[in-house]
Amino acid sequence: LFVRAIGETTDVVEKEMYSFTHHDEGLTLRPEGTAGAVRAYVEHGVQNHEPVSRWYYMGPMFRGERPARGRYRQFYQAGAEVFGDAGPGVDAELIDTLCRMLESLGISDLTVHVNSIGSEGTRVRYQDAVRAGLMPRKEQLSADSQRRLDTNPLRILDSKDPKDREAVLGLPPITDFLTDADRAHFEGCQAFLRALGTPFVVDPLLVRGLDYYTRTLFEIKGAKDKLGAGDTLLGGGRYDGMVKDLGGADVPAIGFAAGMERLLIASDLSAAAPPVDAFVVGMGQRALIEAAVLVRDLRAQGFVCEADTRGASLKSQMRRASASGARVALVIGDQEIDQGVVQFKDLAAHAQRPVPRADIQKELAAARAGAAS
Ligand code: HAM
Repeated sequence: LFVRAIGETTDVVEKEMYSFTHHDEGLTLRPEGTAGAVRAYVEHGVQNHEPVSRWYYMGPMFRGERPARGRYRQFYQAGAEVFGDAGPGVDAELIDTLCRMLESLGISDLTVHVNSIGSEGTRVRYQDAVRAGLMPRKEQLSADSQRRLDTNPLRILDSKDPKDREAVLGLPPITDFLTDADRAHFEGCQAFLRALGTPFVVDPLLVRGLDYYTRTLFEIKGAKDKLGAGDTLLGGGRYDGMVKDLGGADVPAIGFAAGMERLLIASDLSAAAPPVDAFVVGMGQRALIEAAVLVRDLRAQGFVCEADTRGASLKSQMRRASASGARVALVIGDQEIDQGVVQFKDLAAHAQRPVPRADIQKELAAARAGAAS
């Protein structure tokens, strides 16, 4: 599925897929979500049930790349795919919605790059033109790109190698090769984007690393200060031929995927643990059992609760309570058990008072509200 959909000569298929045999069956860890979504779409004949489908997914993907900041061998993507709408308006809707989403995550200095790679024929004609244009300068290209000249010349366009970057400067832009229909689609998409007020740059060197694309391609970059070279937050585009190529009807489609780790790094959203509401301290064997029950009950009521299950000394448990950052320590000994109370110790105010078991929930909620105000 991946070789067919993504393309035999792409980096993902040539170098990055984790493929192995398990009980005589060939398996590949999915490197991306689009091919699988299309297979499901075809398998269930979804176009017979609804004219337009809008799907999303989130989950782990696997690519054997060189790890770096924001680039991992197992990473998480959130993506969406729209099936059944051929018009340029949906391309712009997707790009604009993504910009709003990134802004709402607090990610600054976004740049939207768009390009059109045309339909099937355009890609082939442009590929030939790129090959012809670069052949006389083959020796100046990086070793990787010399190889790509035969197999997948379009990939040379977005090579980061300075030698390649210089060589591609003289090439005609792909927009010169678009058919009238492709050009009208691309201009339509730009008109929608302008109307929506989404700034973008037309980037004629944007080709993306997967071979299934047709017409509109896009990438959104941002937070370069935090992500460095790996600042592509998300990418996507149209793949109007894939549903048919995989045995389905002639259904156009467009989608995107974002690297969730990159969004986290770029947005400063913290993955920090929530503050601990209570640290339960049990003195003696009976109290340790009481503490275990109390922790379980408080967690069930939605409180973040910790305890030292080893039954260490009071001093050591209190030290751990402070280190946990808990707002409150609930101290239980034999006497408290007999009286049906706990010692409710406010760790910031260093104040302690007995609280009946039945009131603990109310008191912890009040402590949490007090801390929030
Ligand atoms: P992609 O450009 O290969 O496109 O990946 C999309 C996003 O996934 C990238 O922009 C990046 O944020 C993240 N990503 C990719 N590789 C890694 C990695 N090794 N570590 C961390 N993050 C990574 C696709 O996958 C297409 N399926 C998108 C699409 C959907 N096109 C149409 N529909």
